[in-house]
Amino acid sequence: MSAAIISGKKISKKIKQELAQKVSVLKTKHELVPGLAVVLVGENPASQVYVRNKEKACALVGVYSEKHELPADVSQNVLLKLIDQLNNNDKIHGILVQLPLPPQIDSQLVLEAIAPDKDVDGFHPYNIGKLLVGEEKFVPCTPQGIITLLKESGVDLVGKKAVIIGRSNIVGKPVALLLLQEHATVTICHSRTKPLAEETSRADILVAAIGKPKFVTADMVKAGAVVIDVGVNRLPDGKLCGDVDFDAVVDKVSAITPVPGGVGPMTIAMLLSNTVKSAKLHKGIV
Ligand code: GUN
Repeated sequence: MSAAIISGKKISKKIKQELAQKVSVLKTKHELVPGLAVVLVGENPASQVYVRNKEKACALVGVYSEKHELPADVSQNVLLKLIDQLNNNDKIHGILVQLPLPPQIDSQLVLEAIAPDKDVDGFHPYNIGKLLVGEEKFVPCTPQGIITLLKESGVDLVGKKAVIIGRSNIVGKPVALLLLQEHATVTICHSRTKPLAEETSRADILVAAIGKPKFVTADMVKAGAVVIDVGVNRLPDGKLCGDVDFDAVVDKVSAITPVPGGVGPMTIAMLLSNTVKSAKLHKGIV
């Protein structure tokens, strides 16, 4: 079987072009420039790359962005004060605090300090709750990107068995809620699922969000399945790879996302989309 390679790079490019159009109209017709503040604590190299890519994407579509860099040993209070200032800054419609945060900081407390109407990451309990009851406002970016990839690729989700490996608040749990909303039958697997391969081999749609390189092998995948690889792992030779053993799995499945160029670019496109949405909501534009 020859698998379709689902290109997040291509699909996100189209979305960014559409967003650039929308931003241009907001500027000329409403004098509104969507604004995003990104907060980076410490010097985690992966986080630095993510933040740089987010800034570049903002510039590309015409979204105003400002980066706030804080040292790794910053106190929780200083970080909370910054968030309070950004909550009250009219130029800013979206606030993103890049995770992970250093151990002296209570991440959940910080995420809950972000005003829910500027929570473009969709991590505030208010927004997670809205998603749970099917009244979503800001949906976490990676899960939203995954659903968009599946829809844009013409994958029918109704009645399909979707299996997710990973139960994080950022990916596993919210993507499960979104797949459920699309009428898939959803299973969440995790490090204590036994036997894991038995669950994953039943999946019509398999989402891998584990954080372990090439964890998903061919024997864990059903022939003809659609595989979404959320992992971004760096190998000893410096190359990036996903959570799925791509070369071993590609000939068995009907469609698969590559790493890089799959889910990653979609996360950024959804962040921009949430920021534009937030700006419009703040200005009362429907
Ligand atoms: N770290 C890894 N993924 C994400 C994300 O989607 N948002 C934030 N804020 N931090 C992350």
